[in-house]
Amino acid sequence: MKAVILAAGKGSRLFPVTKAIAKPLLPLANRMTMEYAFDQLKACGITEICVVVGENEQEMRSALGDGSAFGVELSFAVQDKPLGLAHAVGCAEEFCGGESFALYLGDAIYSGPLAPHVAAFEASDAASLLLVKEVDDPRRFGVANLDGEKIVKLVEKPQNPESNWALAGFYVFGPEIWSGVHRVKPSARGELEITDAIQILIEDGLTVLPGKFTDDWYDSGTLDSFLTVSKAVTGGKNVIAPDAQIDAEIGSNVVVGAGAKVSCSLLQNTVCLPGANITVNGAITGCLLGGEVTSDEGLEDQILWGDLT
Ligand code: G1P
Repeated sequence: MKAVILAAGKGSRLFPVTKAIAKPLLPLANRMTMEYAFDQLKACGITEICVVVGENEQEMRSALGDGSAFGVELSFAVQDKPLGLAHAVGCAEEFCGGESFALYLGDAIYSGPLAPHVAAFEASDAASLLLVKEVDDPRRFGVANLDGEKIVKLVEKPQNPESNWALAGFYVFGPEIWSGVHRVKPSARGELEITDAIQILIEDGLTVLPGKFTDDWYDSGTLDSFLTVSKAVTGGKNVIAPDAQIDAEIGSNVVVGAGAKVSCSLLQNTVCLPGANITVNGAITGCLLGGEVTSDEGLEDQILWGDLT
């Protein structure tokens, strides 16, 4: 089986840091976010991967190369306009070559394995298997209605969800998906939704299975979630690059990248990116920082990269 990773997003909720480093390349515990996706896919026996990129194409190509440094074989497809996830996956149709494939949303991080779900799809005659996770408030996700062991309805970001099963960013598809992708129409938010493309398959009478995920699932899209996922991947331990120079008390959930220099009273629940040069007169808490940062007072809950806004 092959896989497609969608990584074309701008990461606007992590601006300005994601103006300097493409979001899929942001380090989590000093490893690129994408490396966690590669690990998961390799554990599924998948090494042939197409990464769908956007404006970040050159940066992604130079950071990831042909994938050999990560034990995968990479190709790239370019989504030239942000028209939605169904459009993004459509950019990789030729790569998939009419075979089954896994689809991984680039900013998803999972604390448990995906391989059992790929195996469940392969052992079935279903057209698709969707990773689903029960969440308290599913309104910002695609939501699945289950009937026994089948998905019978999907709605993208419903105001009044009919279940708590959220689509959790990992999908396995047979080639039937292309007929849905080709027929999908723009949603209320003006995007071609992968959720709507799969709903078309359900309406065609094809079988779509739920892969119920019971471990933790994170997406690293906002400052809060970035710091939470950082804590999850470090196991709550501080990760300080050996050559970082720190003149500060170090609290908990602190990651400092290679070559970074930090001078302040306290570092707490904060990620300082590689090469950052940070001089702050006070405590730094709940921040994601890179580039040259200076401040006469402490920093709290901020995303900063030098002069970028
Ligand atoms: C996308 C999908 C949604 C899914 C979510 C998972 O939403 O459209 O169905 O539940 O990813 O993170 P987005 O984050 O692009 O709004």
